[in-house]
Amino acid sequence: MKRTHNATDISSQNVGQEVVLNGWVNTRRDHGGLIFIDLRDRSGIIQIVFSPDVNEESFHLAEQVRGEYVVAAKGKVSLRPEETENPNLLTGKVEIYVEEMEVLNRAKTPPFYIEDNIDVDENLRLKYRYLDLRRPEMRKNLELRHRVVKVMRDYLDEKAFIEVETPILTRSTPEGARDYLVPSRVHPGEFFALPQSPQQYKQLLMVAGMEKYFQIARCFRDEDLRADRQPEFTQLDMEMSFVDEEDIFQLIEEMMLRIFKEGLEQDISIPFPRISYEDAMKKYGNDRPDLRFGLEIVDLTELLRDVEFKVFSGAIKSGGVVRAINARGCGSFARREIDKLGEMAVEYGAKGMAWIVVGENELKSPIIKFLTEEEVEQILNALEAKPGDLLIFGADSAETVARVLGNLRMELARRLNLLEKESLNFVWVLGFPLLEYDEEAKRYVADHHMFTSPCLEDIELLDTDPGGVKARAYDLVLNGVEVGGGSIRIHRRDWQEKIFGLLGLTVEEAQEKFGHMLEAFEYGAPPHGGIAFGIDRLLMIMSQRQSIRDLIAFPKTQSASCPMMETPSEVSMRQLRELSLKIRDK
Ligand code: AMO
Ligand code: AMP
Repeated sequence: MKRTHNATDISSQNVGQEVVLNGWVNTRRDHGGLIFIDLRDRSGIIQIVFSPDVNEESFHLAEQVRGEYVVAAKGKVSLRPEETENPNLLTGKVEIYVEEMEVLNRAKTPPFYIEDNIDVDENLRLKYRYLDLRRPEMRKNLELRHRVVKVMRDYLDEKAFIEVETPILTRSTPEGARDYLVPSRVHPGEFFALPQSPQQYKQLLMVAGMEKYFQIARCFRDEDLRADRQPEFTQLDMEMSFVDEEDIFQLIEEMMLRIFKEGLEQDISIPFPRISYEDAMKKYGNDRPDLRFGLEIVDLTELLRDVEFKVFSGAIKSGGVVRAINARGCGSFARREIDKLGEMAVEYGAKGMAWIVVGENELKSPIIKFLTEEEVEQILNALEAKPGDLLIFGADSAETVARVLGNLRMELARRLNLLEKESLNFVWVLGFPLLEYDEEAKRYVADHHMFTSPCLEDIELLDTDPGGVKARAYDLVLNGVEVGGGSIRIHRRDWQEKIFGLLGLTVEEAQEKFGHMLEAFEYGAPPHGGIAFGIDRLLMIMSQRQSIRDLIAFPKTQSASCPMMETPSEVSMRQLRELSLKIRDK
């Protein structure tokens, strides 16, 4: 019995028509004389009805089918009696009286219900991912993914970009995570690396004159996993020649507009606001600020430089800062709740968390006894404090205070329910430092990656104060998640060599690892720049999910394995020998 319609193609328009449906038994209800089956296919659900008056044989077959059986059913579409209409179903006005049914396959009882919002251990869902993906919410995620990637391709095609595939077996790119390695059989003792991103290839495509490149590119990084990190993930990777930052921002903003419009029928407003890295760190304690809510961090360093209270003035004297958040309306927190915040502050590296509760007529605080009335007044003014507010303070190095207050800010937002899933707050973060000093390695490391161009006005600082040089890099942040990042690149050999030098590479090392890039830059490399988006992360926010795993058909667990395929797995001695590998005793 060949299908004539998908479930949700059928409406009151089809009444009287004979149709054939194929699908899965979603639920079966036996009402004695009548059996109702909700039949599910990819499009959705429709009710089919079995009555001995219509067809005795099908009725008896329907008595035997169970959930997830695969069936074909033929019958006439009829209107449901009014009181039995189901407004929750797209097809809720109709049903099909089955004249003939065939069981195409039987099914064991699934280990969890095939329905939305199930509360099941994720490992079980991943082991039976093919059943998990039958659930409508998961199917919708994959459909959204398909639509969004199609919009990306269509949009970039219109803008004259070409999609180019780059190798999966490659040399590692220095993005900074650990590489996945692939041993070479042909070259014993030598390895390929899976790409952390196509960074070097896309730059070489610019040298090759492609001018506008993109790729839906799989990337591989062996790093500690989190809800928004997978060992293999997908980027929308792009690179352009003869562009500056403004060209890239405009192109991307317009693309995001299209993605949200065509993917979700949602309007977003462009251009996106911009914030400097410095301001983001100061005001939000973070280089991926969540702007869905306020609770901004206020700097009080100048105000408190000379106070008696040593916790504050001492931190400032040793080069640090004092900053605070006015947690509006949190003055009603119980002492226990405030102490809990203080404990979290310590977990994030603070030495303590000073606080003031602003009451109608009085202040409660362990620190006001150390401050003059005038100083307290100035603090309250600076924080625009009103009765009912809770003020929390951090005094330490700028870095520690940012980390502590940035995290407390997010915690407060969670407690106050300020993280609205529906709102979409994009922001470009600009002006990152080019280099960061790695205390452990005692050398500079690239903040974005080593092909990023310094800001031209800072070029001279490269010799005198490398840490003060800003990069021509930018991140796109959405609701506190870094969804994309890129930069204008270096396209001259001498500058690239200089950066390699600052990063501690000897001339020989630079030549050995990146000789191909340096050489390519000598053959007329055009000025170029680009960006890459984490497609999984963007979709996670679009679908209002908590984890990118829900947007990936077959993701890995938090411990980088797959319970369904049981990967990674051991291989035979013969395979190891062929690869000239030996496993050390575990
Ligand atoms: P970057 O390393 O910032 O830049 O990566 C770009 C974007 O990819 C996403 N992303 C991830 N998503 C899921 N799991 C991961 N483990 C993961 N790591 C990164 C993030 C991030 O913003 N070649 C440069 C781009 C360029 O300069 O053009 C690069 O890869 O959303
Ligand atoms: P102490 O003098 O150590 O008892 O600290 C007085 C108050 O200041 C307590 O509420 C501490 O939690 C708080 N405090 C101590 N160190 C810091 C710090 N580095 N930043 C903010 N508050 C602090």
